[in-house]
Parts: sequence; structure tokens; C-alpha cells
Amino acid sequence: MSLNLGRTEFGDQANLGNVLSREEANQLFNDWVLNPKLKVHMQQVGHLMKAWAAEKENLDEAGQWQWEMAGLLHDADWDQWPDQHCKKIIEELERRNIDPAIIRAIASHGHLHFGVVPVTKMDQMLYAFDELSGLIHAYSLMRPGGYEGMDVKGVKKRLKEKSFAANVSREDIADACERAGIALDDLVAFIIPRQAQITATIA
Ligand SMILES: [Fe+2]
Repeated sequence: MSLNLGRTEFGDQANLGNVLSREEANQLFNDWVLNPKLKVHMQQVGHLMKAWAAEKENLDEAGQWQWEMAGLLHDADWDQWPDQHCKKIIEELERRNIDPAIIRAIASHGHLHFGVVPVTKMDQMLYAFDELSGLIHAYSLMRPGGYEGMDVKGVKKRLKEKSFAANVSREDIADACERAGIALDDLVAFIIPRQAQITATIA
């Protein structure tokens, strides 16, 4: 279930730079998300966002945390309130006066459903990582060695198999790559080692 948010403006420009502390974000994460698989997914996406912000956008620690926070919390309401996804988390972050860029990124991570177009690089990368990260993780779970030895070719094969991780939207992945201006191969190559690393620390 997902709903069109019916608006494209989020938060308040007066809140630029406002973030949750890591402790506050973890508290919200643990209070709202009970499903361990969803928790892994959200931590993986958070880590990919942070890695991209650091390595490709050259952002400082504060900037990296904004990206990571958007990734870490993007599905926070999916577990307990799927019929309010992602309205509930957006309203919570607005209530807590969080930077509108973070809220907007969360609001546009499934733009075909929520009706919010990913515009900024943060928006685009969250959208691009979300589904692809899920497919790559599903692939790791069926490989005897997990992430070890996984390559781009193998991931692309799984992508072509419509029955594999059938809930992962191939349409979203293609659309996200195009919007972010990144070749699918490059995105997959970025994700594999970084997702392997974070998954080893949280598993
Ligand atoms: Fe997600």
C-alpha cells in the first residue's frame, strides 16, 4: 500500500540544517520499525547514502549525516502503518522541525506512488538505491557465499529474471538511473562492496 501525498512542498525553509541526533534517529528507528528484515534494509540504504555523500559528493560529516538520515528513516512507517507510508514519517519529521531537504528526499523515494518527483541529488540517490539495494540483498541471500564474489553481471542477470525478487520494481530502477544520470552498471558496482561491508557489521 502506498498513497499519493497530494503535495510537493515539505517542511519549512527556516529549518535548514536541522537534523535529528544519531541517538534520536536510532530511537525513532527502533520504536517504529519492528521487522528485522526491514531494519536491515533501512540500515543498508542509510549506509549507501552516507557512502555516496562522502565519496561522490565530497560532503562533510554534517552533510553525510543528512544523507544517511534520509536513508535510515525512509521506510520508518512502512512496518506498522503501511497505509500511511510515507505520510507518517514525513509529518513526524516536520513536527520535529527537520531540514526540508531530508523530508523531501523521503517523500520522493517512490515518486510513482507518492507523486513527488526526485529533484535534488539526495532525492535521486535515495530513489536509485532503494529498490536496487533490496534486489542485491535478496541475491546475496541465495548465494552460498553471500556477498563474496558477487559481481555486476550476476546482479544484472537477476534483474532480467522477472520472477526473482518479483516485488522489486524494475521500472523504478530504470527510471531512477535515468533521473540520477548514472549507468546501472556503475550503480551496482558502487552498491555491492559497500552493502557487503555494512551488512557484515549489522548481521
Ligand atoms: Fe526502502
